[in-house]
Amino acid sequence: MKKTHDCGSLKAANVGETVRLSGWIQSRRDHGGVIFVDLRDRTGIAQVVFDSERNKEIFHLAEALRSEYVLSVEGEVKPRSEETVNPKIPTGEVEVFAQELTILNPSRTPPIYVEDDLDVDENLRLKYRYIDLRRPEMQHKLFMRHKIIKKIRDFLDTRGFWEVETPVLTRSTPEGARDYLVPSRIKAGSFYALPQSPQLFKQLLMVAGTEKYFQIARCFRDEDLRADRQPEFTQLDMEMSFVETRDILTLIESLVQYIYQEVLGIELEIPFPRMPYREAMERYGSDKPDLRFGLEIQDVSDLVSDCQFKVFTGALAKGGVVKGINARGAAFSRKDVDDLTEFSIQLGAKGLAWFMVGPEGLKSPLLKFFTEERLGQLSSQMEAEAGDVLFFVADAREKAEEILGHLRNHLARKMNLIKENENRLLWIIDFPLLSYDSEEKRYVANHHPFTSPREEDINLLESEPLKTRAQAYDLVLNGMEVGGGSIRIHRRELQEKMFELLGFSPQEAHEQFGFLLQAFEYGTPPHGGIALGLDRLIMLMLGARSIREVIPFPKTAGGSCLLTDAPAPVALKQLEELFIRLELPEEEEEI
Ligand code: AMO
Ligand code: AMP
Repeated sequence: MKKTHDCGSLKAANVGETVRLSGWIQSRRDHGGVIFVDLRDRTGIAQVVFDSERNKEIFHLAEALRSEYVLSVEGEVKPRSEETVNPKIPTGEVEVFAQELTILNPSRTPPIYVEDDLDVDENLRLKYRYIDLRRPEMQHKLFMRHKIIKKIRDFLDTRGFWEVETPVLTRSTPEGARDYLVPSRIKAGSFYALPQSPQLFKQLLMVAGTEKYFQIARCFRDEDLRADRQPEFTQLDMEMSFVETRDILTLIESLVQYIYQEVLGIELEIPFPRMPYREAMERYGSDKPDLRFGLEIQDVSDLVSDCQFKVFTGALAKGGVVKGINARGAAFSRKDVDDLTEFSIQLGAKGLAWFMVGPEGLKSPLLKFFTEERLGQLSSQMEAEAGDVLFFVADAREKAEEILGHLRNHLARKMNLIKENENRLLWIIDFPLLSYDSEEKRYVANHHPFTSPREEDINLLESEPLKTRAQAYDLVLNGMEVGGGSIRIHRRELQEKMFELLGFSPQEAHEQFGFLLQAFEYGTPPHGGIALGLDRLIMLMLGARSIREVIPFPKTAGGSCLLTDAPAPVALKQLEELFIRLELPEEEEEI
C-alpha cells in the first residue's frame, strides 16, 4: 500500500502512530535544517517535517522537492507545539516526521497554482485542466456532481425506474439544433447523427414495455454556445407509461426535493408553483422567470390609449401594447436612464419611455402628452412613489414583453435585487404547441414534434393551430430552464397529422421517422417524460458561475477542447477511407 491514511484525515488521535501518506506537494518551506512540506491529496493537507537532526539522508532528499511532486512518505504523527498549531486546517494540530521518502514522480513548475480564488485566465485552466481540477474547489465540484448523480440513481431505483442505455451512433433527433454527424466507412456516403437527446429511443422503450425508464444521457447539439450551453451536455432523461402531466411533475418535485435535502441539506417546499406560459410572459416577459425579485410587468395600454404621444398610440393602433416596469426606489440619474434606453434599443426596442417619480410628482419629457388625470392613474396603477423610475415600451405584444423581460433581469442586477441564496423553482405549463416561422413559412414545434396537444385542443389543430396548447412543461430554477418534457403523442394518426402540420411530406415523415410510426402500430401505451439539464441543475445547486465549472472537461465558447485541441484535422488516409473530399473556404485552408 502506498498510503495508510488520507492526508486530510490526520487528527490528534493519530499521535504516536506511524503512517504512510501519498500525495502532491502543495508547498515546501526550508527553515535551514528543517524542511516543511504541505502534502495534499483529495481529502486535504498534512504537514510533513524533514528534520536534518533526526535523519540527514532523507533531509537531503527533501532538499530536491518542489511544488506538485508526487511523494510517498512514512513517518510518525506528532503533536505540534502550541505556537505552531494551525486552526485553519483540520489537520493543523499534528505533523508527520518523515522517516522514509519516495519520490513517485517529479513535476515541472506548474503553469497555474493549485489554489482556490486565483484569478487565472480560463483558457489556461482548460488547457491544463488536469492541474486545474486538483484545486480543492474543483475537487469539491467533482465530488458533489458524483453525489448528486448517485442520489438521483438511488431515488429513481426506489421508485421502480430502470436505467437503460441508448445508442450514441444513431439517427437525427429533432430537438431543434444542428446535428453532429459521423460518417460511415462501411456504408459509403451515409452518416450517423449523434443524439440531440434520447427522445425517440425512450419512446420506443415505452412501446417495448419498460414502463419507467431513466438515463444519465450525453446529448450533442451543434448550436451557438453561451455560459449555460455546451455542445455536449448531460441530461437526466426519463420516460413513463400510463401517466399524466401531474404524475410527472409530482415525481420530479419529490426527486429535486430529495437531492437538495440529501446533498445540500436544504429543505425545498413542494409542490412548486405552476404558471401558464401566457401568464409568465405577461408578468415577467420570459418563459423562465426569475422569481427571486419582483419588478413585475404592468400593462398600461388602456390608460395611454387617448394620450398625445404618437409612439404609444401608434403602437396601439397596430394592435400592439404599452407595458412597463416600476424600478422601485431606483433613483436613477439621467445617465442611468440613457444607458437603459441604449440597452433596450440593443434588444430591438424602438426606444424606452421613462418617468422619474419625485416628491413633487412625475418628471419626464413626455409629460406634455398626458392629462393630469391620466398621469395620476398611471402613477397609481404603477404604485409610483418618490424615488421610483417608471419605464415603458410600446410595441407588438410579444416583442414588448420580451424586451421588458430582459430589462427586468438587467434592472435586478443593476439594482442588486437578486436574493442569491434563494432557490425559486416553478413549472411553466400550457405552452403553445406550435409557432409560425415566418422565414421558412411553416409551423414549428415549440417543444418537439412528439409532444401531444391537450385533448380539448385537438380540434384547434385544423382551425387555429397557433391556439393549440401543448401538454408540455418546463422546470425553471432562478431564471434558468433546468428541464423540459411533455406527454407524447402515442397514436399513429395524430403523429402523422402533426408531421403534416410541420410541413413534412408523408414521404419525408416516413424516411425520417418511419420506425417510430411503425412502432406506433404495435400497441403503444400512453406515455410522457422529461429531461433535466444536469449540468445546469448542478451549476445552480453549487452556485457556480457557468456550466463549464461543473463539467470536468468542457469546451470553450468556440466549441473546442483546449486540452486535446479537438476538433482537429485528420489524415488524408482516414478521409479517403470514408470517401470524403474536403473543399474548404479560402481563409481556412491554411489552418
Ligand atoms: P430540451 O431540449 O428542453 O428537451 O432539453 C432538456 C434540458 O436540457 C438542458 N439543455 C442544455 N444544457 C446544456 N447545454 C445545452 N446545449 C443544452 N440544451 C438543453 C436544459 C433543458 O431544459 N427530449 C426532450 C426532453 C423530453 O421531452 O423529455 C429534450 O431534450 O436544461
Ligand atoms: P422620439 O419620439 O423618438 O424622440 O422618442 C421620445 C421618447 O420615447 C424617447 O425617450 C424614446 O426612447 C421613447 N420611445 C421611442 N419609441 C418608443 C417605444 N416604442 N416604446 C417606448 N418608448 C419609446
